Amino acid sequence: MSQPKILLLGPPGAGKGTQSSNLVDAFGVEHVTTGDALRSNKDMDISDLGLEYETPGEYMDRGELVPDEVVNAIVEQALTSADGFVLDGYPRNLDQAEELESMTDLDVIVSLSVSEAELVDRLTGRRVCEECGENYHVEFDQPAEEGVCDECGSELIQREDDQEDAVRNRLDVFAQNTEPVIEYYADRDAFVEIDGEQSLDAVWADLEAAVEDTV
Ligand code: AP5
Repeated sequence: MSQPKILLLGPPGAGKGTQSSNLVDAFGVEHVTTGDALRSNKDMDISDLGLEYETPGEYMDRGELVPDEVVNAIVEQALTSADGFVLDGYPRNLDQAEELESMTDLDVIVSLSVSEAELVDRLTGRRVCEECGENYHVEFDQPAEEGVCDECGSELIQREDDQEDAVRNRLDVFAQNTEPVIEYYADRDAFVEIDGEQSLDAVWADLEAAVEDTV
């Protein structure tokens, strides 16, 4: 049987990255994440595209969307080499959603919903491992030793776009661009909404059940 094709939608800080790791472990799917792919290519020279800024990082640090032509190419390449996948961070606007239709079909579309106040707390308190990318939170998900990654022992940092001003901008960008994407999928049979404000384990239980229904 082929592996599931999962789309994970939700605002910044909803837990998409956290729960994607669980999906990778439980279902053996590939994690296709535009955020991580772009962070690895933050300084890529895109000046020949004639856009507002010359690197993806200049958009990201401000909490703006990186232009579609850059992001679509990354996703298309990643999906062609994946059997099953969890797609996290894409599509973020209706043009990207239409582009995705031409790349693949989807078995389950999950939207994680979380209130704005909780999102601000989660994002401003998030710490990430610069080396392996593992996520932590200063209150909800602490490492054994403060400031040190449990997985690889490297230093934990705060992402530039997790500063409060950038967080507020990301939430505005989400409301304007990505909420319409959730509406676009909402009446499909494959669509499931999960309360992302529950505990990590409770969110995972709902998500695992939703994906198991499709395999
Ligand atoms: P990206 O990296 O995709 O960021 P995001 O969507 O803003 O999502 P986050 O990674 O911030 O949050 P998450 O939902 O993964 O939450 P997490 O699990 O970490 O994108 C970054 C930037 O790249 C964008 O702003 C844009 O510039 C660019 N970009 C990316 N994709 C693009 C696209 N398609 N088009 C254009 N530009 C694009 O959890 C957050 C915190 O909460 C953690 O600390 C975690 O421990 C904690 N937490 C999680 N779940 C719970 C829970 N249930 N209870 C308590 N705490 C929890």
